[in-house]
Amino acid sequence: MTRFKRLLLSATTTAALVAASMAVDARDFRLGLITPPPHIWTQAANNFAEELNKKSGGEHTVSVFPARQLGNEAQMVQQLQTGALDMAFLTIAEISNRVPDFGALYAPYLVEDIDQAAALLRSDAATDLLNKLPGGVGVVGVGYGMAGMRQVLSREAVQGPADIAGKKLRITPFEPIRDFYTALGAAPTPLPLPGVYDALANGQVDAIDMDFDSILVLKFYERADNLLISNHMMFPMVGVVSGRVWKQLSDADKSLIQTTMKAQLDDVISRFQAQEKDQEQQLRQLNINISEADRGQFADAIESWEGIWSKKAPSLVNLRKAVTEIKGN
Ligand code: BEZ
Repeated sequence: MTRFKRLLLSATTTAALVAASMAVDARDFRLGLITPPPHIWTQAANNFAEELNKKSGGEHTVSVFPARQLGNEAQMVQQLQTGALDMAFLTIAEISNRVPDFGALYAPYLVEDIDQAAALLRSDAATDLLNKLPGGVGVVGVGYGMAGMRQVLSREAVQGPADIAGKKLRITPFEPIRDFYTALGAAPTPLPLPGVYDALANGQVDAIDMDFDSILVLKFYERADNLLISNHMMFPMVGVVSGRVWKQLSDADKSLIQTTMKAQLDDVISRFQAQEKDQEQQLRQLNINISEADRGQFADAIESWEGIWSKKAPSLVNLRKAVTEIKGN
């Protein structure tokens, strides 16, 4: 082989290797979330990691960081904005602190039950809200998941909204729920999920705003044995990818991530839908006191909430129209 041919071969081989590595574009993504390992959201994150690895032919891996290992949601949003974190499953709580229109999803009694919540989160009206995420938060919203409907669990007897007044009541740290409990005369105490068990145990709070699933899985009923079944709010979650990271991805990878993550998020919705009634029964069979309350009993607090949030969250109008359609079907 002449020296010229050898040089040509070597240049061609190098070019082929560079082209191949660009086409592969393997990534090790990091996904953060606040829920502990047994929670359905964390299971879905792990399933997503497994599926993405499989579907990318082993090229992409996703390391999942549950239980606030990367910080609280406000800190994770900052990391997503800089691109230090690639993906997250977030409650709408931190999102609604940054884009108040998302507060519309927390309107008290926007939906009556978990099936309506599921249908609403799958509607165009809710999906349209995701378009506000890149501009408002610097993340791309892939789709919604959710947890169960919100209830009140208390250390002392609670038979209706009147008994909530004056209580130090744990809330997830976000404004729409703070305003709801303030209107009820409670002292809302923001506390992230991992701190709730101890806060109930040591009396830092008198009661908590929570869903059936967390009450059972995280055993909060061991520390507070009065449950007010109110179904007063739904609790959406959103799967997001850092906007900075998104820009670096090929169209093929964007589509792969979108379809794979969306399938898992949708499965979270279906699982909560499927288990809600059964979990209510499980709680009813425990040795705890159960009361029920409906929309009418919360009327004054709802009116006061609407006075604040109908202006801050104009998407409420579209969401309500979607709920009306859902109820008509
Ligand atoms: C909560 O803050 O109450 C919560 C957060 C994530 C999943 C379920 C509950």
